[in-house]
Amino acid sequence: MNPNFELVPSLQSLIARADQALSQALPPEEQSPAELHRAMRYAVLGGGKRLRPLLVYAAGHALGEDGPQLDAPACAVELIHAYSLVHDDLPAMDDDDMRRGRPTCHIVFGEAMAILAGDALQALAFELLAHDVHAANGMNMLRVLGRACGAEGMAGGQALDLAAVGRKLSLAELEHMHACKTGALIRASVRLGALAAGADERTLDALDRYAHAVGLAFQVRDDILDVEGESAVIGKTAGKDAAADKPTFPSIIGLDASRTHLAELTATALDAIAPLGERGVLLEELARYAAKRHH
Ligand code: IPE
Ligand code: IPE
Ligand code: MG
Ligand code: MG
Ligand code: MG
Repeated sequence: MNPNFELVPSLQSLIARADQALSQALPPEEQSPAELHRAMRYAVLGGGKRLRPLLVYAAGHALGEDGPQLDAPACAVELIHAYSLVHDDLPAMDDDDMRRGRPTCHIVFGEAMAILAGDALQALAFELLAHDVHAANGMNMLRVLGRACGAEGMAGGQALDLAAVGRKLSLAELEHMHACKTGALIRASVRLGALAAGADERTLDALDRYAHAVGLAFQVRDDILDVEGESAVIGKTAGKDAAADKPTFPSIIGLDASRTHLAELTATALDAIAPLGERGVLLEELARYAAKRHH
């Protein structure tokens, strides 16, 4: 099954653009240290929905920018995401052996190499983004990415996730955890695309409201898919959250309320970008996709 069949053709061609840029940005397999390079390429290429790069391109597009300056931020967010998945799957974290329909990075390359691949992917993301440091928003973009993956963002959210195992979180605590572990990088993706396109403060604010809702919706959908998805379709082991006693939307408010919440979040996201009109069409498509996706 084509993993991207749920997307319109214009977004599918942006996936191809991101894939090509990623392949070029990653170190070649035959170059030393070859095993590390192989692990990095394995973790990034050959799977994944590329939602974060798509958000970079869609945000740029909404502001009339489709040029090559979007490629570095698009790659950077996907490299960070891929690194976060490699570490998320490690035995010390979620201990998963399947990702994107294939054995996880540490199953193929061993734990030590998977840890290093994650480290190197994170570094490469910043290196790529730093190429444009002299662009108008260059420094700001580096700061946005740093904040999104650090203790206030993804890594912090992962720490909250681990600390929450076996505990009953309130809805507000759960939303905060989701907003950090998944939402922060999704927000950064939209913001980076907008900054690369020279967005003004008002537009950045509207896009941020959109991205906050989409980020949350994306993780709510992830939690629902963990309950009702099939491993063969979602490409990772279904039922892991319950097995590991993770607090999730379905476990705290139930499946029906989770679905209702998803619809509300989508409506909030669409409302935020309504002023963009026709230019927001790709962002609109991605908001719907985040909530409806089947893998
Ligand atoms: C999975 O992210 C982990 C979460 C943050 C929910 P994705 O569902 O975007 O994973 P890929 O990139 O498509 O494999
Ligand atoms: C992962 O959340 C979030 C990050 C990798 C930052 P999950 O642990 O729910 O993601 P899956 O379900 O393993 O893809
Ligand atoms: Mg996890
Ligand atoms: Mg996980
Ligand atoms: Mg999950």
